[in-house]
Amino acid sequence: MSESTNTFFQSDQVEQRPLRHALLLRLIGYLKPYWVGLAALLLLMAAGAALEVLPSEFTLRLIDHHLAQGTLSGAGPLLLAFLGFLALAFLVNLARYLLLAWVGQMAMLDLRMQLFDHLMRRSTHFFHRNPVGRLMTRVISDVQNLNEMFSSGFVAIVGDALSLIAIVVWMYLKHPGMATVALGIMPILLIVTEIFRRHASEAFRETQGRYAAIQAFLQEQLSGMSLVQLNAQEGRSREGFTLLNQKYLQAFIRTIFAYAVFFPVVEFITSGILAALIFYAGFKLQSGALTLGLLLAFIQQSGRFFRPIRELAERYNVMQTAMASSERIFHLLDNREAIPEAPDARPARFEREIRLEEVSFAYEPGGREVVRDLSGSIPKGRRIAVVGHTGAGKSTLINLLMRFYDVGSGRITVDGEDLRTLKVAEARGLFGLVLQDVFIFSGTLESNILLDRPKDVNRLADVLTQSQMEDLVGRLPEGLATQVGERGQRLSAGERQLVAFARMLYGNPQVLLLDEATANIDSETEHKIQRVIEQVSHRLTTFTIAHRLSTIREADEIWVMDQGRIVERGTHEALLRRGGVYAGLVRLQFGEELGTVPGI
Ligand SMILES: Nc1ncnc2c1ncn2[C@@H]1O[C@H](COP(=O)(O)OP(=O)(O)OP(=O)(O)O)[C@@H](O)[C@H]1O
Ligand SMILES: [Mg+2]
Repeated sequence: MSESTNTFFQSDQVEQRPLRHALLLRLIGYLKPYWVGLAALLLLMAAGAALEVLPSEFTLRLIDHHLAQGTLSGAGPLLLAFLGFLALAFLVNLARYLLLAWVGQMAMLDLRMQLFDHLMRRSTHFFHRNPVGRLMTRVISDVQNLNEMFSSGFVAIVGDALSLIAIVVWMYLKHPGMATVALGIMPILLIVTEIFRRHASEAFRETQGRYAAIQAFLQEQLSGMSLVQLNAQEGRSREGFTLLNQKYLQAFIRTIFAYAVFFPVVEFITSGILAALIFYAGFKLQSGALTLGLLLAFIQQSGRFFRPIRELAERYNVMQTAMASSERIFHLLDNREAIPEAPDARPARFEREIRLEEVSFAYEPGGREVVRDLSGSIPKGRRIAVVGHTGAGKSTLINLLMRFYDVGSGRITVDGEDLRTLKVAEARGLFGLVLQDVFIFSGTLESNILLDRPKDVNRLADVLTQSQMEDLVGRLPEGLATQVGERGQRLSAGERQLVAFARMLYGNPQVLLLDEATANIDSETEHKIQRVIEQVSHRLTTFTIAHRLSTIREADEIWVMDQGRIVERGTHEALLRRGGVYAGLVRLQFGEELGTVPGI
């Protein structure tokens, strides 16, 4: 099993933890802005609880005053009042549900937005370590679990408690003896519920963890589907999926088993209570100390009484799930992995040169250094090309210049100012980045060029010309408004590159950072791209990881990288004459193309 798949079998396991007050308090914080709604909700619930006992009053009166006399005459007003009560209960419940949904959804919306904003600010490193599927689960399922806790856990428990209080008070007011009989068996029910809770909750939590694992696995496999199919990995993917499903099933069966035992047992106990009530009432009815109506009303109420208690176990599970979810959410929110910006960060200016001064860098702290003691200067207006074998650390240099990562030691300066002392967004704004793989968002061609920047028609037209995109736009059925499909599937690799150039140019950067595509691009587009680069490089400083001979030849200076160091530097001709690493590399990569070049 590959390393990435392995994480699905380990991650998202939720540990057994009691409900934690700190977590709860933090969650309640999200309800604060909606406290008015919440207060109204509490009032409505109290009203609902009081209304719970009213039906029994009707039962009592109807039976004792009318049915026991063998006639329904005169019961009209009572029935009317009952209809009125039903209408009132309906309204109270309606308002309650609406309010509940509103408060819950508003709070969840806030949380989801907060999570999203938080994710937007995390560093590149963070995203390398957290699979997309897992982050999706946080924002979607875990937040949903919290909503459930709010609606069927938290608030429902308060509502149930209010109902229970109303019923107990009613029972004792009506007949303390009967009340004692009905409530006497309660401890047994509570003990059974507690035993169940212990058994079920562990299995339940495991089920949740397994479920999240399935989601994450599915997300990754579907995203990489073409790769899976290309390598005929369907069988292995299937095996992985089967294994995850089996584990989920086992956990699920354990949960279901606990429920399957619990409910019949509770049913049995409830019947016992009914039997005791009837048995006790049998004596009292004879002595006239109790009426038939009261007995029926008590039976009715005790039915209502046990429902919330039975559900308590379920509510507890909802709370447990939500606690686990909130723990994961807060863990994510507390992750501060971001590129730090000094409070006194300065605006970024680039007039003279960008320097790398003895820069070393490792992706993992204490890990292998992929850039080592590297120094170099990128003067304004110059064209630097970087060449080297795969894994030499070329793309890493771009990551460091863009400050996706901070250097381990040494420093990068812009006009003599340490990059880390500059405003992050401004420093990044100096650079226009075009990478090997261009990411295209689903949406229109135009939105992919503008991103979230305001639309400037002139600049857009300008950028389209500069990036040689006019033909492409003219060819597309709806021009700039054409939907490019998810991840730009409707564009060829070359066209995507052109879009990336347009996107970069629209930001009006000062330095072009280009990681040339190694993917196959048709020769017509290839020429276009070359022309774009040529034009751009007259205006901008360019720092290009070069895979094209043309780029290399045009460069003012070539840095030859090997294992994180610059081993040679100079112009194409000078380096060729030297006959070192560069000459070898060029012969290897461009041997045929160079056949006509004298000196090789
Ligand atoms: N996110 C990352 N986490 C850990 N190691 C990484 C990461 N990205 C790259 N590396 C490692 O750093 C080294 C340099 O990678 P880099 O991407 O800079 O190479 P490159 O010179 O751009 O190669 P190529 O020509 O194939 O693009 C490689 O050994 C690579 O495995
Ligand atoms: Mg690279």
